[in-house]
Amino acid sequence: MMASPALIDRIMAVMGSAFDPAYGEAWNRRQIADALTMPNTHALVVDADGTPIPDNAAQSASPAGFVLTRHVLDEEELLLIAVLPGVRRRGVGAALIKHLFAQASSRGITRIFLEMRRGNPAIHLYSKFGFEPIGERRNYYRMENGERVDAITFGCSI
Ligand SMILES: CC(C)(COP(=O)(O)OP(=O)(O)OC[C@H]1O[C@@H](n2cnc3c(N)ncnc32)[C@H](O)[C@@H]1OP(=O)(O)O)[C@@H](O)C(=O)NCCC(=O)NCCS
Repeated sequence: MMASPALIDRIMAVMGSAFDPAYGEAWNRRQIADALTMPNTHALVVDADGTPIPDNAAQSASPAGFVLTRHVLDEEELLLIAVLPGVRRRGVGAALIKHLFAQASSRGITRIFLEMRRGNPAIHLYSKFGFEPIGERRNYYRMENGERVDAITFGCSI
């Protein structure tokens, strides 16, 4: 199913400033639109209070963060999570994870995975919710300056 342009706009409004270009982690509009055409891909957008913004909300809704996931059978992979820099450390990321756990659980998901570059402070958010490191890939990511960074895989039962 095609994602609504308003949903993609909201995701891109956060994407535009949430990722440090040094790591090349941000997705472009086309990548988001393509991902959302797949029925097992889920996007959740919240405002600065951590309240979910419905896909059909008015244009005026103000996105502060989003999480993008994909499920296969009873496992779900967290592909991207991001919060606008100006509203960090106010619980928006935690709200995204809480809503994700509730929605994933209602889809019959029992385990969530994610992959993170070593050194990303997001590890503190993930640890708080029970994600534990389960593997690593040495020098997996390549930064803009050519340096390599390890990827760490985390898993969490919900
Ligand atoms: C990771 C990210 C989504 C966290 O969003 P956030 O809204 O700031 O998270 P919260 O305020 O809900 O944080 C909840 C808890 O996680 C931990 N935490 C979050 N960010 C942290 C940081 N930078 N340093 C230390 N602990 C952190 C804290 O324990 C925090 O609780 P506290 O503020 O009461 O101490 C945000 O920093 C971000 O968008 N980063 C850039 C994108 C990115 O790298 N995403 C992950 C890879 S896809």
